[in-house]
This record gives sequence, structure tokens and C-alpha cells, in this order.
Amino acid sequence: MSPDAPIGVFDSGIGGLTVVRALLHRLPHERIVYVGDTARVPYGPKSPDTVRRYANEITHWLVEQGVKTIVVACNTATAHALPTLQRECPVPVLGVVAPGARAAVRAAQGGPIGVIGTVGTIDSGAYERAIHAIDPDITVLARACPLFVPLVEEGWLDHAVTRAVAHEYLDPLLADGIRALVLGCTHYPLLAPLLAELAGERVTLIDSADQTAAATAQILREHSLEAEARATPPRHRFVASDAPDRFLALGQRFLGTTLDHVDHVTFG
Ligand code: DGL
Repeated sequence: MSPDAPIGVFDSGIGGLTVVRALLHRLPHERIVYVGDTARVPYGPKSPDTVRRYANEITHWLVEQGVKTIVVACNTATAHALPTLQRECPVPVLGVVAPGARAAVRAAQGGPIGVIGTVGTIDSGAYERAIHAIDPDITVLARACPLFVPLVEEGWLDHAVTRAVAHEYLDPLLADGIRALVLGCTHYPLLAPLLAELAGERVTLIDSADQTAAATAQILREHSLEAEARATPPRHRFVASDAPDRFLALGQRFLGTTLDHVDHVTFG
């Protein structure tokens, strides 16, 4: 495998662009092929078998494109499919759960950890397992927050309704004295300012996107697969499984820079 090959990143939709944003920041010389499965989003409420099938299809396609490693940017897909993908894929595959869990354990210093995510991610118990694999004595308080994804896509990042919903979801975790809060969903980093205000200074927010970018850099180093700096900036490719209009319209909010072209590919 060549260091010039791109990194493959996929998500159920546009939310995984928060992970791409973190990757572009940390690994500016790397080329990225991003797949957003916008035709089949959301993954959050779907069964583990269905999410595994979708994740397998996209992973095969990325391998066919010649990627050197794959980042599963979607927390729900990581929670349900990561072990299968790692077993079957010829290139290294990493997800967002383990990097987030490691950072949370460091930040909480033995105190309770809150985890928020989609219904699928929370029901899977993936974050609890990852945290308890590091420290079995840590208390983990997990809560599904299914209304956050549509609120973020609506752009209601600091809206009275979002505030009320956030209180409803977070107040019980805060009352139990959490010291770190894992933002276990691609969309939640966009709510970080609001959630930080509600949680207060005692609670460290853990953005899985940043942690995953750091873990990707480490994997590339370990496999001697780091791209070299070039005179021209790398050209990234963005792919959606549904018509690209909504991806183009909303993508910028998640990516933080303009998106001028999205290809359409059908999976399954
Ligand atoms: N990307 C999903 C995640 O991080 C959120 C959106 C969805 O439910 O598909 O879990």
C-alpha cells in the first residue's frame, strides 16, 4: 500500500464531515475520499444487522477505490460494525468509539463519565465496553439523545428548543456528577458551545472527531503510510448515495469550509 493513497472516511450522512474537518486540520497533506450514505441515513434507529450490511457495502467500495486506511466516522456504524470490518478488511480500519473512550478516561480522573449518542450507539453498550476495558471501576452513565441530530441539521445550534431538549437529556447526568461527557455522535460537536455552557467547568467535553484524527495519525505513522507534503494541496473527493443537493447545502456547516462538488454513487 502506498503512502500516496487516500484515506477513506464514511458516515451515514453529512455528520461525519466533522471528522473530516478534524482530519484536514491534523493531517493537511492527506487526500480523503468521503462517503455519506445520505440515501439510507439515519443509522441511529436501525438494527445492528442492517447497519453492519450498509457499513460492509461502503467499506468494500472504499477498498476498491484503493484507500490505505478507513475511518468509520459514524458512531452508530462503529458501535455495530467495527469488529466485523476490522476482521474482513485488507487495510487498517478505525472507529470513533475507542479514541473517545480513551480521552474520556484520561479527563474524568476516576470520576463518572457521561456518554451521549444515538439510540443504536447507546443500546450497543460500545462506549461502556471501551471505557471498562481501560478501567473497569469507572461509572458510565449513558443516554440516547435522538432529537439532537434533527435539531443540528435544522441549524438550531443555540435555539430555545435545543436548550430545553439539552436540559432534559443532560440534567440527570449532571446531577449524578459526571466529570467528562463523550459527544458520541457525529452531529454533537456542533452543539459543543451550548453543551459546555450547560455542563459547566467541572465537566470536560470529549469530541470524538478530534480524538479520532489523532488516532488516524498514529495508525499512519505505525504503518509508514504518511503522505508527503506536496506543492499543490491534496484533492479530496466527496460522495453521497442520494442526490447531492442537501449534502452540498448542509455540508459546509459540518466541514467548516466550502464544498463545491459531490459525486453520486449507489450502494447495495
Ligand atoms: N452519524 C450518526 C452517528 O454518529 C448520526 C446520524 C445517524 O443516526 O445516522 O451515530
